[in-house]
This record gives sequence, C-alpha cells and structure tokens, in this order.
Amino acid sequence: MKAPVITIDGPSGVGKGTISQYLADALGWHYLDSGALYRILGYAANRAKVDLEDADALTELMDSLRINFSGGAQLDGESIDENIRTEQAGERASRVAQHPPIRSAMLELQRGFLKSPGLVADGRDMGTTVFPQTPYKFYLTATAEERAKRRYKQLKEKGQSGNIGALFRDIQQRDDRDMNRADSPLRPADDASIIDTSSLSISEVLEKVIEQLPFKANVSLD
Ligand code: DC
Repeated sequence: MKAPVITIDGPSGVGKGTISQYLADALGWHYLDSGALYRILGYAANRAKVDLEDADALTELMDSLRINFSGGAQLDGESIDENIRTEQAGERASRVAQHPPIRSAMLELQRGFLKSPGLVADGRDMGTTVFPQTPYKFYLTATAEERAKRRYKQLKEKGQSGNIGALFRDIQQRDDRDMNRADSPLRPADDASIIDTSSLSISEVLEKVIEQLPFKANVSLD
C-alpha cells in the first residue's frame, strides 16, 4: 500500500463521521467520507430524474459527475453539502448503493483518496472490500434506539425538527437494506476491532481507537 489506511465501518448514525474526522485531524491524515459519494450520486440522480433502480442509467450518470471535496461536498462546482445531509439523501444513497456496477465504479474512486501520510476511511465496506489489506480496521456499533436518539439530538442542535419514532424506523430500514444487499453488505471484517459505542462519549470511543494504533495522534476535542 502507498500509505497506511484506518477503516471505520458501521451502521448509520453510529458516529463514524465524527470519530473519523477527529482521528484524521489528530493524525494529520486525509479523510474519506465514502457515504458522501453515494449521497452525491443519489442527489444527482434525483435532480436528473434518473430512476434509483436503474443501474445502467446511474452508472452513466456517475461517469459524468465532477465531485470535489474542497471546503465541503461539491458537484460540478456547486456546493451541495447541505442538500446531501438530509434523511432523504441518506435513504437515496442507500438505494443507489445496492447496485453492483455502482459499487465497482466507486471502488477506484475511493482508492484514489489514499495518499501520504495516510487515510482514515469511513463507510460500510471500507474494511471488507475497499481496503481489505489494511491491518487497522474498526467497526462501530450502537443499538438502533441509541442511534435514533443521537440523530434526534443532532437535528435539535441544528434547529431542525425530528420525530424520534420516524428516525428509529428510518434507521432500521437503512440497516436492513445495507446489511442484506448482495454486493459488499455492511458487516465487520473478520479482523476488525468491534467497539460498542452505545454508552460511550465521542472522546471515549476515540481513546479506544487510538490506544489500538501504533501512530502518534494529537487529540484536541473542541
Ligand atoms: O454513511 P452514510 O450514512 O453517509 O451513508 C449513506 C448510505 O450510503 C448508506 O446507507 C449506504 C451507502 N454506503 C455504502 O453502501 N457503502 C459505503 N462505504 C458508504 C455508504
């Protein structure tokens, strides 16, 4: 491998993004938010009125996208960070992510993020499919109830409204689709370290991850 990779996989709402970003900052490494790639494709498909079940049309659309992450997600030069962070965008991402041709097109794109001095990659199949050779694999879990509560709190903090029952159902539906698709379903790699985050704070999870790594990290949680 060109540079070391740390993979952080797990179901939606488990806090992978936050942990991965802090970890990448603490190490001074690059960060890959692979879910954002599927979210961008779902967003672009919706905008272009492409059927989310039409794998051929989605593959063609994907080939034409110009994705950039400098200062947030950008599509064809336009900032779409807010548009791809909604619950609906997550649901669309999960649907486009079911198609094998899309997943294989995403492979090369995702591996292209690996650059010196290293990469923290967050997603569903980072440890099983995209970077299976790395020895630094983590899988974060938490109950669906706990994840729905965290989502609800996040929405409140952003001044948005949410319904905890609906969030719980969305999370269960997304887990079900992500875990049961035929191509690279969500599951821990055999050699992943599994961390149940249900009763842990962000700094406690980060500490557990860092203590298992041989790299020097400067953690600052602000
Ligand atoms: O991590 P996220 O919530 O942003 O991901 C959105 C959806 O994208 C998720 O429900 C399934 C899909 N996804 C995937 O299939 N593989 C990945 N590596 C990352 C995300």
